[in-house]
Amino acid sequence: MKRLKHLAIALAAVFACSAPQVMARTLDEIKADGKIILATEGLYPPFNYMQGSKLTGFEVELAEAVVKKMGLKFEWKSLSFDALLAGLRQDRWDLVIASFGITEERSKAVLFTAPHYCSGGVIVSRDGSVKTVGDLSGKVVAAQTGTTYFENVKKVPGIKEVKNYPADTDARAALTSGRVDAWVSDRFVAKTAMEANPAGMKLGDFLFVERVASAVKKGNTSLAGAWDKALAEVMADGTYKALSEKYMKEDVRCK
Ligand code: ARG
Repeated sequence: MKRLKHLAIALAAVFACSAPQVMARTLDEIKADGKIILATEGLYPPFNYMQGSKLTGFEVELAEAVVKKMGLKFEWKSLSFDALLAGLRQDRWDLVIASFGITEERSKAVLFTAPHYCSGGVIVSRDGSVKTVGDLSGKVVAAQTGTTYFENVKKVPGIKEVKNYPADTDARAALTSGRVDAWVSDRFVAKTAMEANPAGMKLGDFLFVERVASAVKKGNTSLAGAWDKALAEVMADGTYKALSEKYMKEDVRCK
């Protein structure tokens, strides 16, 4: 009997070690710590980018305003785009805000909050010759790896080749340097790039539209709920509008 008991304890210990441990931090746990860990990319102006060594952009300032409303301090992590959602699942940070469009596929892996803007993927070419979805036929197109741009371009019939790049800025550079015929990216990202290089790029049609949100670990409803409440407050008190106009010259909230 005693032996059996020992065996049971030993087995329980083995099980505890191999079982997937660490749960995502709940709202209460984050509050007790006082600081939320936020993750973004940092190569995606005007939404998240570096100004010298400082992370900034619409999403960075918006997240900081939301977190302030939640009564929390924050710490930023900046990672490559394709590492962000995986890191949520490994509890390496609490929330990701990096212009992720809400998709069915991603919703299987993470929990999206309420959207913080609505936009879509547009076709950009050097001289305006590739403007419509039909124009993409027979063309070489650049898009960032792991994005909805890449996924949606791949579906367009007749495309010659879709080249993918680790950063959206690399996909853009492929267009301006003439290595591809078109670049598909966010409408406001393209507009911001065009401000810096007005002669080298022409905006074409929307390929698709999307709602963009932050994400927390699947099941972390306490954190998502608190974020949504604070986001709604920031959207109601004028903070959102001011930030949106600062970075995009218009209010980009979902209508
Ligand atoms: N909106 C697109 C998507 O959901 C692209 C997001 C790219 N974000 C970034 N930080 N590079 O896939």
